[in-house]
Amino acid sequence: MKSVLFTRFFILLPWILIVIIMLDVDTRKPAPPLTPRPYFSPYAVGRGDARLPLRRGGPAHGTQKRNQSRPQPQPEPQLPTIYAITPTYSRPVQKAELTRLANTFRQVAQLHWILVEDAAARSELVSRFLARAGLPSTHLHVPTPRRYKRPGLPRATEQRNAGLAWLRQRHQHQRAQPGVLFFADDDNTYSLELFQEMRTTRKVSVWPVGLVGGRRYERPLVENGKVVGWYTGWRADRPFAIDMAGFAVSLQVILSNPKAVFKRRGSQPGMQESDFLKQITTVEELEPKANNCTKVLVWHTRTEKVNLANEPKYRLDTVKIEV
Ligand code: UGA
Ligand code: MN
Repeated sequence: MKSVLFTRFFILLPWILIVIIMLDVDTRKPAPPLTPRPYFSPYAVGRGDARLPLRRGGPAHGTQKRNQSRPQPQPEPQLPTIYAITPTYSRPVQKAELTRLANTFRQVAQLHWILVEDAAARSELVSRFLARAGLPSTHLHVPTPRRYKRPGLPRATEQRNAGLAWLRQRHQHQRAQPGVLFFADDDNTYSLELFQEMRTTRKVSVWPVGLVGGRRYERPLVENGKVVGWYTGWRADRPFAIDMAGFAVSLQVILSNPKAVFKRRGSQPGMQESDFLKQITTVEELEPKANNCTKVLVWHTRTEKVNLANEPKYRLDTVKIEV
């Protein structure tokens, strides 16, 4: 009897040791790095090694639980993909703007960049740029009709719609995937915290925008967790007095409202956002982000037109350089 127990003990011993070692390794696992996606990585979407949003369980809470009961490892719930639609057009500062934007986006986990050129064809400059950007991306183009290229008329209507159409087409057969869409103009400034905030959008989320509407900032006014009005210095009568940079929409809402698009007809200056949001939500439904809309995490910066007064017409440089 004794010897049977003895043999069993020796058979089990290595297994017990392996389990102890594995549990020990697990608790010593280092925190996920801030920028795990290597630069110039393959442009795959859906990688599981992504940086997690701050909101998913505080670190103290997580560690404590793990040490106490050692539950079976749960599969990570899939991080919603952030789709950023960026209209862009050819001008001297274009590559500089796109460079700033890519440098931000590269630090955001699970982001898919939909870059839409306002052009009759994809340009070489943007194609080359995207190929080296190290980001999952889609490169589209659609020209703005000449009659709409006038001061005072809304910009980038056709380009944002092209982005929406691509998104709907891509997801027509796979509706379950979680995702969040937002419109990222190429000249704004985006904090990384903004992406953590928008990632948890259930339907339509909103937040303040800095340097817009003739004020230091505009913001949704929030009472008891609900949007009840707008702090703005410009056209306060807008149903949604918010800039394009001030909201995000869940992929589900985009897919279940297939007709919601940006409209040229009847759209007045500054009304594009309201015209679009009216089609998919109500003010009561909006989800305030950024600490009940009290933090500015995105700025409506505008790049000064460059002075090219001294560009030579003749006797050009001996090399051709892309700027
Ligand atoms: C404001 C809003 O922030 C924009 O979201 C809105 O589209 C715009 O007004 C408008 O009037 O429609 P603003 O800084 O005045 O923005 O506009 P831009 O930054 O010049 O243009 C917005 C986006 O459209 C940019 O990403 C820009 O690259 C793109 N764009 C602009 C084009 O694709 N084609 C153009 O001819 C002009
Ligand atoms: Mn702008």
